[in-house]
Amino acid sequence: METNITWLWLPTVLFAHAFAGFWLLKTLLLHDPQALSFCWRRRRPVSKSVLKARALQKANEAACAATADVVLHLPKGAGPKAPVIVEGIDQDAEDLDAASLDVEAVPSVDSLYEDVPVPQLAGNMRVEPLTLEWQRLGCSYRAATGTKVVLQDVYGRAAPGEMQALLGPSGAGKSTLMDILAQRKSVGTLSGVLLVGGRPVSRGFIRKTAYVPQDDNFVPTMTTMETMRFYAAIILPDSIGRAGRQQRVEEVLDAVGLGTHHKTLVGGVLPGGLMLRGLSGGERKRLSIAAGILAAPSVVYLDEPTSGLDSFAALTVMGYMKRMARSNGQIVIASIHQPRSAIWSMFDTVSLLSSGRLMYTGPRDGLVQWFASRGYNYDAGLHGVASDWALDLVAIGFHKPKRFYGHTITNKEQLFAASAAFVARYREAAGIKGEPQAPASAGSIAGLSGKLRGAMRRSSAGGSSRAAAAAAAAAAAAAAAGSAASLAPSGASSGSLSSASGGDQLEPAPAPLWATGWWSQYAACLGRELLAVTRNPADVAGRTLTFSWVALLMGLLYFNMPLDASSLRGRLNLLFNGLVFFCLMPYVSMSLYTADKKFYIADASAKLYRAHAYYAAKATATVPFQVLSALIFTFTVYGMAGLRPGAIHILQNGVVTSLLYVIAVQVLHCCAVLAPNQDAAFMLSIMWSTVQLLMSNFFITFNDLRFKWLSFLRWFSALYYAFEGLSRVEFGSAKFDCSGGVDPAGVTFLKQLMPNSKFLNLSAVTNALINPGPDCVADTDALLNYYQFLRPFKTTVAILLGYWGITHLLTYCAMVMVARRERR
Ligand SMILES: Nc1ncnc2c1ncn2[C@@H]1O[C@H](COP(=O)(O)OP(=O)(O)O)[C@@H](O)[C@H]1O
Ligand SMILES: [Mg+2]
Repeated sequence: METNITWLWLPTVLFAHAFAGFWLLKTLLLHDPQALSFCWRRRRPVSKSVLKARALQKANEAACAATADVVLHLPKGAGPKAPVIVEGIDQDAEDLDAASLDVEAVPSVDSLYEDVPVPQLAGNMRVEPLTLEWQRLGCSYRAATGTKVVLQDVYGRAAPGEMQALLGPSGAGKSTLMDILAQRKSVGTLSGVLLVGGRPVSRGFIRKTAYVPQDDNFVPTMTTMETMRFYAAIILPDSIGRAGRQQRVEEVLDAVGLGTHHKTLVGGVLPGGLMLRGLSGGERKRLSIAAGILAAPSVVYLDEPTSGLDSFAALTVMGYMKRMARSNGQIVIASIHQPRSAIWSMFDTVSLLSSGRLMYTGPRDGLVQWFASRGYNYDAGLHGVASDWALDLVAIGFHKPKRFYGHTITNKEQLFAASAAFVARYREAAGIKGEPQAPASAGSIAGLSGKLRGAMRRSSAGGSSRAAAAAAAAAAAAAAAGSAASLAPSGASSGSLSSASGGDQLEPAPAPLWATGWWSQYAACLGRELLAVTRNPADVAGRTLTFSWVALLMGLLYFNMPLDASSLRGRLNLLFNGLVFFCLMPYVSMSLYTADKKFYIADASAKLYRAHAYYAAKATATVPFQVLSALIFTFTVYGMAGLRPGAIHILQNGVVTSLLYVIAVQVLHCCAVLAPNQDAAFMLSIMWSTVQLLMSNFFITFNDLRFKWLSFLRWFSALYYAFEGLSRVEFGSAKFDCSGGVDPAGVTFLKQLMPNSKFLNLSAVTNALINPGPDCVADTDALLNYYQFLRPFKTTVAILLGYWGITHLLTYCAMVMVARRERR
C-alpha cells in the first residue's frame, strides 16, 4: 500500500484521446481528402486507373446518348393518327405503324450498345448456360384470417441469353416468384417444380445465380472499391487469384458506370442514425448490380432494378444487362415497373402476374396478341407502352374509365378466368397433364431452402417437364392468338437461342455450396467488420471517448481516496458503480446490434458465406476494441480514485471489468437478434439488467432475502460474480489502517439515531470509536465474509468466461435460427 498509483489515469486518458482521434481523423479524410490540405499544398496526381475509368465512362455515355436520340415522344392528346416526333430521325408519322411504336422503332437499341464493353470473363471463369423451367409454382402463408395464397399455378421458362420481365401490380407476387426461382424463399408453404437444365434443382444452384434485391445491403462506411473487393473475395473462386479478382472488379465497375467512383463512400444511414454522404440512390443500385454480376452467374435475378433510377441511368443499366446476357449466355430475370419503351423492347420474354395468378408468360410480342384473342385490345397511341397497358389491364380494385380502356378486366372473377384460360392453353401446348394446382394449403412452414428443394422435387410435375415443351406452349399460346412472328423470344441471338431450344441437353454441373474456403470468407468478413467499426464515429471512436469521459467524472467524484478504513464504503460503492456502468453502457450501441442482424439475414439469404466464418470474424473484429474501452475506463478510474495499489491488483481488476463488459455487450447483442424489433430488444435487455442489479448482493444481501429461494436468480447475475471478484481483489487479505477512528460527526449521528442506547452515550465507547489507538487495523476479510464473497479469484474468472461463452453460443444459434425464419 506504499505506491501512489494516481499517475495511471493520465497516460490512459491521453492514449484514449489519441486513439479515438486517430480513427476520427481517418474517417474525416475519407469524407474529404482535402480536409487537411492547409497542412500541405501539393495536389495528388490522378492515378492511371481513374483516368482510364473516366475515358470508359465517357464512351459509355456516348453510346447511351445515341439511344436517347431515338426516344419517341407523343404530343399531348395524341391518337394513332397524331404526328409522331422522333428525335434525331427524319421520318414522317405515316411511315410508322402506330402498333409498332413501342417495339419496332427501338429494336436497334441492341446495336446501339455494341460499343459498350461487356467485360471478358477473367481467367478460368465461365458462364454455364442453364435452362430454367418452373411448373405449378405456388406459395401460401398462414394468416390470422386463414390461408393466404400469394402465388398459384405459375408456369414459365427461361433460356440462356434471354432477358425476361416479371410484370405485375404491387403485391402480384413478383418478388415471391423471384425468391422461389432464386432458391431464397424460406417461409410459407411452397409447391411446384423448378427444373434446371431439365433436372430438379440442386443444392449448389444458388452458386450459379445472383440476386440483386430491391434494397441493397452495403456497409455505408466502405468505399465502392472496398465493397466490391469484399464481394470478390467471397464469391470469386480462390483459384482466380488476387490480380484476377482486382481486374474483374475494375471491369465490372467500369461496365456499370462506377469507374470514377472507386474511392467514393457507399454512404447511407449509419446504425445510430448518422447520415453519411456517399453514392446517390442510382449509383448504389448500380453497385448492387455490379456485385450481383461479379461472379458471372448463369442466372441474374433483379428485383425492380430500375426503381429509384432516373430514366437515363435505368436505360444504361438495362442496356448493359441486355448485352451481358446476350454475350455470355446468361439469363436475366427482372421484375420491373413502368419500363420506358426502350427498356421494354430489350426484354425477350415476359411473365405477367396479378393477385398471384399467371396472366401470361412467353415472348414479349405475344402479350398483346394473347390478350387481343380474349377481347382485350391494346391501342398504342392511346395506351402508350404495351407493358403499361398490360399492367392497367390486370390491375383490379380501381375505377377504369371505359372510354379509355374499352373492354377490360375489372374484378377477380374476370381476372381468374383470364388466368385460367392462359394456364390451360399453356398446359395444353406443353403437353402437361393432370389437375391444375389447387391453392396451397397451410401446412408446415418450410423453414429451409433445403425443404423448398425437397418440396419441389416431391411435387409432381403433372406430365413431362421438358423445357422445350414450355417454349412450344408459349409459342402456341401466342400463335393461337394470331401472332405469327413471336414463336421465339424476339431479342435473343440465334446462337444462344439454338442452345436454348435444346435446353434440356444443358446438363448443369454440380456447384459447390461455397465459392471460397473458410479462411477466405473469414478474412473478407474480418476486413469488412474492421472497416465498419472503425469508420463509424459512433462505434470505436465514440465509445472510447465516452468511456474515457465517464471514467474521468467517476474518478473526480472519488478522487484519491485515503488508503485507510474511512474509505471502505467509498471503495465498495465505486467498485459497484463501475460495474453498473459496464452493464448499462452497451445500451448505447443497441442500433449497431440490430443493424448487424439485418446485415447478416440479408447475406445469409444470398448464402454469401458460412455463418461461423462470419461470426468468428465479427468477434475477432469487435472484442479487442471492447476490451480496450473497458480497460481505458478501468485504469482511469483506478488511478484517479486510488484503488488498491499493486500491478497484480490493477490487472485482476481489469480482467474482471473487461469480462463483465464483453458479457453485457454479448447479452444485448443476443437480445437484439432474438427480438423482432429494437423496442422488444430493449425490453429483453432491461429484464437482464434488472436481474444483474437486484441480484448483485449489493442492495440486499442474499442472507437478507425474505424469500430465500429467490436467491437462485444470482446464477444469472454476471454482475454479482464480477462484484465478488473485484471485492476480493480490493479487500482480500488486506489490512486497512483505522487509527484515524470514526469521524466524530458519524458518532453524533449514531447517538441521534439511537437515543435510548446507553452504551453509545458512555464516553468510553465514544472515545474508543473516535480514537481507537495508533495500532488499529481494519481486517477487510470481515467485509468479504459479511457479503459471503468467498470464492477464489480464479473460480470467479472461470465462471465469467463460461458465462461469456454461453452468451456467444446463444447469439450464434439465435442468429442462424432467425436468418432461417425471416422472410426471404
Ligand atoms: N411473410 C408473409 N406473410 C404473409 N404474406 C406475405 C408475406 N410475404 C409476402 N406476403 C404477401 O404476398 C403478396 C405478394 O408479395 P410480393 O411477392 O412481395 O409482391 P410484389 O413483389 O409483386 O409486389 C403480398 O400480398 C404480400 O403482402
Ligand atoms: Mg416486390
